[in-house]
Amino acid sequence: FVEMELPLRPTLFDFHGVSMTKYFTDNWDDIQNFKARPDDILIATYPKAGTTWVSYILDLLYFGQMCPERQTSIPIQERVPFLEISIPYGVKGKDLADRLPTTPRLIKTHLPVQLVPRSFWEQNSRIVYVARNAKDNAVSFFHFDRMNNMEPEPGEWSNFLQNFKEGKMVFGSWYDHVNGWWEKKQTHSKIHYMFYEDLIEDCGRELDQLCSFLGLSPSAEEKERILTGAKFDNMKHNKMANYSTVQIMDHSVSPFMRKGKVGDWKNHFTVAQNEEFDEDHKKKMKNSTLKFRTEM
Ligand code: A3P
Repeated sequence: FVEMELPLRPTLFDFHGVSMTKYFTDNWDDIQNFKARPDDILIATYPKAGTTWVSYILDLLYFGQMCPERQTSIPIQERVPFLEISIPYGVKGKDLADRLPTTPRLIKTHLPVQLVPRSFWEQNSRIVYVARNAKDNAVSFFHFDRMNNMEPEPGEWSNFLQNFKEGKMVFGSWYDHVNGWWEKKQTHSKIHYMFYEDLIEDCGRELDQLCSFLGLSPSAEEKERILTGAKFDNMKHNKMANYSTVQIMDHSVSPFMRKGKVGDWKNHFTVAQNEEFDEDHKKKMKNSTLKFRTEM
């Protein structure tokens, strides 16, 4: 009997110009050779932008009616494999994706646009990108890194925020990520670009837009069922959606389904941090047409 050791908190290193850890690069050649299919749906996000929320909505949309037992038996991270993940003792995300029996396959990635496996472009697979305002995204990332031993040690909030600004985060700079995908979207019609804040404002409207992108027309009753299932409180208490089955996360430090709000950054940023952040944000976004809401 060999006791399983929990993987150690990893350190960041530069990987093709992006900060990464070994848990997302160890299986690199295999990931890059992933064989996407034309009917695959890739859910792409910067970490903590609302990946699980949109993954769950998509899963309910495609399989909620057909396979209701899925809702009580398969955790979301198995229904929607995380393509690039490769951790000790865990099934590699790429292998899980290869083995998915359902069509379409829903696949999650946090890769910046330039690192996405080529076959997704060659096969013209549909991609749903979700972006979240930088301040709330940073706060959510901080608490996530506290509770998830697979992430680098977050340290104190002020240091973490500085690192966030400098792009010293797993999957690199928030700025490069949201802008890279936004630019790609301008020339690639198969990307549907969504915002966390819009989902909070009117999830029904966002679901309608998602359905029109995907060419689906669920009944009003079906839509209602999806919207109810994907409500924050329902997902928070749903073991198949709240990551409570994942050993490596310590939900007593901070639950995965933490607050689910726009504007929680106000409880974390000091006045000085906010001013410095705004100034830096303005500079980094000056050539971008992307606009974010930080309060509603
Ligand atoms: P907070 O930490 O701000 O609460 P990801 O899935 O990309 O890791 O993002 C996680 C963030 O999305 C967390 O943000 C989580 O609470 C929030 N979230 C997940 N499901 C949600 C829902 N149904 N409604 C609102 N926010 C949700």
